[in-house]
Amino acid sequence: MIYDNHGRPITYLRLAVTDRCNLRCFYCMPAEGIRYLPKRELLTYEEMLQMVRLMAAMGVSKVRITGGEPFVRKDLMYFLRQLSQIKGIEDINITTNGVLTTDYVAELKQLGVRSVNLSLDTFDRERFKEITRRDEFEKVKACFDLLIAHEVHTKINAVVMEGKNTDDIIPLAELTRDYPVDVRFIEEMPFNGEGSHYPVLVWTHRKILEKLSGRYPDIQKVKDAAHSTSYNYHIPGHQGNVGIIAAFSRTFCGSCNRIRVTAQGTLKTCLYDEGVLDIRKLMRSGASDHEIQDALKKAFGNRAKDGFEAEKSRQASHPASESMSTIGG
Ligand code: 5AD
Ligand code: SF4
Repeated sequence: MIYDNHGRPITYLRLAVTDRCNLRCFYCMPAEGIRYLPKRELLTYEEMLQMVRLMAAMGVSKVRITGGEPFVRKDLMYFLRQLSQIKGIEDINITTNGVLTTDYVAELKQLGVRSVNLSLDTFDRERFKEITRRDEFEKVKACFDLLIAHEVHTKINAVVMEGKNTDDIIPLAELTRDYPVDVRFIEEMPFNGEGSHYPVLVWTHRKILEKLSGRYPDIQKVKDAAHSTSYNYHIPGHQGNVGIIAAFSRTFCGSCNRIRVTAQGTLKTCLYDEGVLDIRKLMRSGASDHEIQDALKKAFGNRAKDGFEAEKSRQASHPASESMSTIGG
């Protein structure tokens, strides 16, 4: 196990396998003018596998596959099969928007994928179209139904956006009554390729909780798992839990065990930093496994203590305005 300079173990890698996406969520990307990375700038699957092997040997045991939309990348299942063979990787999860996922649900289950996070901000087709700028709700709903049918542990991630989907908070919470799913509400962050949408964030974790408590006065706090980024609650009589992720308020940094690697192979030791190590360059310059692990160790030993410190260390020319599609959430 490897610990960072603040005594936090590094056990969890979030790996973005592509920056491309088939949706255009308002909070993630501008409607037009997105420049995708040329393919040669992405880590190849072989490079990713080698990187994960090195990290697994250092104590990383959990990997979440993100994007962009992971299923937009060709042969993702090939990659997942290889990934599931790596010694030390005990827990593989995936975050997807569900548009292309239906065909793979059975195999994901078979591969032992622990849980699928479905990014879904409303259960209303029209509002879905407004938020994602694409009319794909029916496919996502089919994916949701199939995940339930196959008993894959499913978490819905809903970004709470002022003026867009705050009326969806209760209908989404109701899903935890009707289905064995968890629904997590996420504070909107300024990672949409344009910078913050608001002078101040109104829909903070506190306000989201107020909304839930207003409708469910007997909502109960449950104990959160170690390193959880969500505050979790149970509504009596419901099958799943609801959670709130204070992604903007950054209240959970003290127990953060995660690192991120972007689609182009940049290591981020905090969601809010601008990248601390170019793993792709290192690998392509012929660095040995030892040299790569040393560079990783050095980066882990120099982590910001929280998302505010990481944000401050960004160069003024790079405010926190990149798109989540390259970071992976
Ligand atoms: N703020 C908060 N969450 C975001 N996500 C994408 N962009 C943002 C943003 N600007 C979420 C997606 C996905 C997860 C990986 O990150 O909804 O579920
Ligand atoms: Fe695509 Fe996810 Fe970004 Fe939406 S939030 S545009 S689904 S990468």
